[in-house]
Amino acid sequence: MNDKPADDQLVDLTTAGRIKELHDRHAEAVTDAEAAAAEKQHAKGKNTARERILALLDPGSFVEYDEFVRHRATSFGMEKKRPYGDSVVIGTGTIHGRNVAVYSQNFTVFGGSLGEAAGAKIVKIMEHALKTGVPIIGILDSGGARIQEGVIALGKYGEIFRMNTAASGVIPQISIVMGPAAGGAVYSPALTDFVIMVDKTSHMFVTGPDVIKTVTGEDVGMEELGGALAHNQTSGVSHYLASDEEDALDFARNLLSYLPDNNLAELPTYEAGAEYEITDADRVLNTIIPDSTSQPYDVLKVIETIVDDGEFLEIQELFAPNIVVGFARIEGSPIGIIANQPNQMAGTLNIDAGEKAARFLRMCDSFSIPIVTLVDVPGYLPGTDQEWSGVIRRGAKLLYSYAEATVPLVTVILRKAYGGAYIVMGSKALGADLNFAWPTAEIAVMGGQGAVNILYRRDIAAAREAGEDADALGKRLADEYTYNVASPYLAAERGELDSIIEPAATRVTIMKALRSLRSKRASMPPKKHGNIPL
Ligand code: HXC
Repeated sequence: MNDKPADDQLVDLTTAGRIKELHDRHAEAVTDAEAAAAEKQHAKGKNTARERILALLDPGSFVEYDEFVRHRATSFGMEKKRPYGDSVVIGTGTIHGRNVAVYSQNFTVFGGSLGEAAGAKIVKIMEHALKTGVPIIGILDSGGARIQEGVIALGKYGEIFRMNTAASGVIPQISIVMGPAAGGAVYSPALTDFVIMVDKTSHMFVTGPDVIKTVTGEDVGMEELGGALAHNQTSGVSHYLASDEEDALDFARNLLSYLPDNNLAELPTYEAGAEYEITDADRVLNTIIPDSTSQPYDVLKVIETIVDDGEFLEIQELFAPNIVVGFARIEGSPIGIIANQPNQMAGTLNIDAGEKAARFLRMCDSFSIPIVTLVDVPGYLPGTDQEWSGVIRRGAKLLYSYAEATVPLVTVILRKAYGGAYIVMGSKALGADLNFAWPTAEIAVMGGQGAVNILYRRDIAAAREAGEDADALGKRLADEYTYNVASPYLAAERGELDSIIEPAATRVTIMKALRSLRSKRASMPPKKHGNIPL
């Protein structure tokens, strides 16, 4: 529709005429545009920008803004194509009855690319989310900076990154990637709290396959380079691998059920009956730790036993699976869980596990979500790869994150807690509030065998020279060390543990601990900001 009527058209300035004009323009901006967009997107197995928003929000709650915004670019013949709304749909609505703000890029308009108008719309809705203290959800499907608009497009990205950063730790920010996110455009999702990617249809990369081929000669396909699996499993950029668009939106809604509206708001809680007696389900934990300390078990079973309805929303399930992080509820109130996973790399800590847990912990801390830590860690993964990749610098992030956290911190040591890994995994000394251990806990500078190899090296060598059974001697000494030195009762004697509990009592103990910590108030010394090792 033109801005002005043609000369031979009569201007209808009656109220009825003006209302009709509104309907006509709305039809062009939304109804007709949707029909055209649906045809293109559906052919690619994707939904339109508006369909995605409507599927995400509570029915009937979406209110669209800026539907009449148009770009003002004139180069490359752009002035001939000025669709209403430009390449993004923005607005507000509710999820589970709670207010949220959304934007959703429209790939059918200039490939969803971001120029001045689309960028301004995104900044506007982010500002709205920030000033009203509600979560912002971005749905990305874009070819990146609009090539025709040059530096103006780049500047808008800069503004978005600045808004992302200002909003970080104030309102939850979720990015759902449902198509391409190329070039510097990937950094907006990267700055948000959660990145959800859809299998096969979403791709993220800073430089694409063609540029890589030209510059390095490396041959790599789009999917292998920046597909959802690559970013969930290998890079750790994405937090959830959705099987399709519906799954991605479901995950985002579920995620929000654990998050407050903003850093000053109460956590969303649900009615939940508290069972203060140990149940048969709890007693399963009394047999979960194998008698042999080298045998693994699945820590997810422990988590499911101690949380409401066994419901655990795992985050970054495919990345660094040697540590498990995610949300659950206890007595209807959200908690974050960080747990070593003994059935993956024996639960050792490495760089990826440390960064995964640190980021999750800081996100929980910024939104006042209490943390429960379950410890079974034989130590840090040894090797030149880890050392040269910066396990010192990057591993320090987890220490820093626990030490600066002011939310309630409850730790339970299930089995091994050796060396620096004991300290980092929510130890008392780092600031945890209530620390418990199962009687199967082993807390020491190192494992029994390692300790004996250092402390009794000469005795074992002498026994071997004398023709005695040196291996048997080594094992006996190692068992003695584990019993006497690695005993959790030594830690309890020093107050490093507040109590040693029967595994079956874990659920009830954590529930009561979190209750007692509800009124916790703690803060760090005033500062501009800390300098976390990056
Ligand atoms: C303007 C764009 C565009 C862009 C795509 N289009 N990207 N228009 N600016 N960045 C247009 C295409 O011309 C085409 O228009 C339509 O969108 C659909 O694109 P296709 O290429 O036909 O789609 P497809 O084959 O699905 O490929 C999608 C794509 C590809 C992988 C995203 O379009 C692509 O590689 N685009 C360029 C990506 C890129 O390098 N962007 C700049 C990144 S740098 P018609 O009219 O033919 O339908 C960046 C800097 C951010 O973003 C800075 C932050 C600091």
